[in-house]
Amino acid sequence: MVFFSSGKKGGAEDWILEPQGSSLKIEAKKFSLADFKGDVLVVPVSKDGKLSQYSSELKLALGLPDIDQQKVGEEGLFTSTFVEGQTFSRVVYVGVGEQAKVDVEKVRKLGGKVVKYLQMNQLKQAIVLSCSSLLSSSSNVSEAEVASAFTEGVVLGMYAFERYKTDEEAKKKKQLVSVVFVPEERSASALSHVQKALETSKTLGVHTNFVRDLVNLPANVATPSYLASLALRVAKASRLKCTILGRKDLEKEKMGCFLSVAQGSAEEPQLVVLEYHAKKKNAPTYAFVGKGVTFDTGGYNIKQTGYMETMYTDKAGAMVVLGTVKAAAELSLDVNVIGILGLTENMISGSASKPSDIVTASNGKTVEIGNTDAEGRLVLSDCLHYATRFKPTAIFDVATLTGAAYVALGPSFSAMLGNDSKLMERFSAAGQHVYERVWQLPLLDEFDEYIKSDVADLKNISNLKGGAGTIVGAVFLKNFVGKYPWVHFDIAATARSELPTDYLPKGATGVGVRLFVEFLRQK
Ligand code: BES
Ligand code: ZN
Ligand code: ZN
Repeated sequence: MVFFSSGKKGGAEDWILEPQGSSLKIEAKKFSLADFKGDVLVVPVSKDGKLSQYSSELKLALGLPDIDQQKVGEEGLFTSTFVEGQTFSRVVYVGVGEQAKVDVEKVRKLGGKVVKYLQMNQLKQAIVLSCSSLLSSSSNVSEAEVASAFTEGVVLGMYAFERYKTDEEAKKKKQLVSVVFVPEERSASALSHVQKALETSKTLGVHTNFVRDLVNLPANVATPSYLASLALRVAKASRLKCTILGRKDLEKEKMGCFLSVAQGSAEEPQLVVLEYHAKKKNAPTYAFVGKGVTFDTGGYNIKQTGYMETMYTDKAGAMVVLGTVKAAAELSLDVNVIGILGLTENMISGSASKPSDIVTASNGKTVEIGNTDAEGRLVLSDCLHYATRFKPTAIFDVATLTGAAYVALGPSFSAMLGNDSKLMERFSAAGQHVYERVWQLPLLDEFDEYIKSDVADLKNISNLKGGAGTIVGAVFLKNFVGKYPWVHFDIAATARSELPTDYLPKGATGVGVRLFVEFLRQK
């Protein structure tokens, strides 16, 4: 079934299109106490080194007492002083620690710390002085970069998944309304530069929160059809072309691998294709493919208690793809972006696939299903082959593919494998820049041995008995990208977080959106 952006298919509720941060007003303003309107003025302070550029003006105008920088500058410490005769009733110093250790990521974290402080104290409107002079002088970071990182921290840090909490009052109390960011450079051009940076980072933060919401939705709500209809709504609002394929269409496409995963479920699988076309002629075309398993029981190779409960987040890859295409459209990027979402449940029933089944993928390759829990690569294989029809400049896929990614790299890095080292270098740099870091694992032709089957062309698990699990996933996927440049991202260890940090909540992290958009924005 093909829908264009005017198609209709009800489902998702309105709140999902207004993620946290979308109503936040964030603007750059020149330092001028008379023009500041808010509840609080936030002043970053380091333990050593210079004080903020405006501190002497502030001291003079507000009659503030001297501060003990060693104490007040302690990282993460908030020190509040009440003032009179201003629109804001308090000045809050926030410590950033030793100046030599302040970098862009520290500023992002600072944004997260500040927003949590504001929420806890029910402060709605904040004016924040830039901390660019507190950055170590060797770091060469622009005012706009500081503003971006701070804003990302604020928007990402304000996120909590509270959709199913019914205490609306409590939610309202901690809703931040506006942030005024005061750069240290006073020129009009610096101000407009910073304003632009604030808007872009807000968009990135909001789209990450959008993805977090979607990934956090439970599987009884976020079925493949629900997500497909939501994608259609997004397409409509963002003027994207949208094509949706259901079970019959997948049969016509001969997607035997994808269908084998879906055949045990009462929910219809959906393959969603979104297309953003840049205004610019001859722009490169990047295809993003996402694993969207809305619940992964493991199938007949059933997961144990303790390992299955979080498997509603196994749709993270597809949701990141949706968020990335939407962000590309919102930012009017100069590249074409195709998003392909492979949505299905992996369930058990009388019609479910069985270990030892042999199926045929849409590119003609036969696959022995060695393990029904290695379902992500089966879904992705047909979606990757589908991507080749767009003759893209490159294909990228993103998936919560293997628990082994956690064993190899832990929660700080997503695993990256592919057939194009130049592209992977670009992703490494982009990841470092936005702090959604990726780490390359090797992918050599000699690994093809691992997934040889006695009875079919390929097997969806290896003969290595648990070794190199993340690599084996990529070895399998490689068979479906033809000759196209391709990079695979395994986000199994990074898509959800158990320990909340300054701007990462517990649960879905939304990792991938900032990485991919940063890549797409690079010239
Ligand atoms: N969805 C899982 C991978 C996963 C595990 C994601 C933990 C997030 C957290 C995937 O479908 C899976 O079950 N993979 C198997 C592959 C194995 C059977 C080759 C795994 O990692 O154990
Ligand atoms: Zn699985
Ligand atoms: Zn899975």
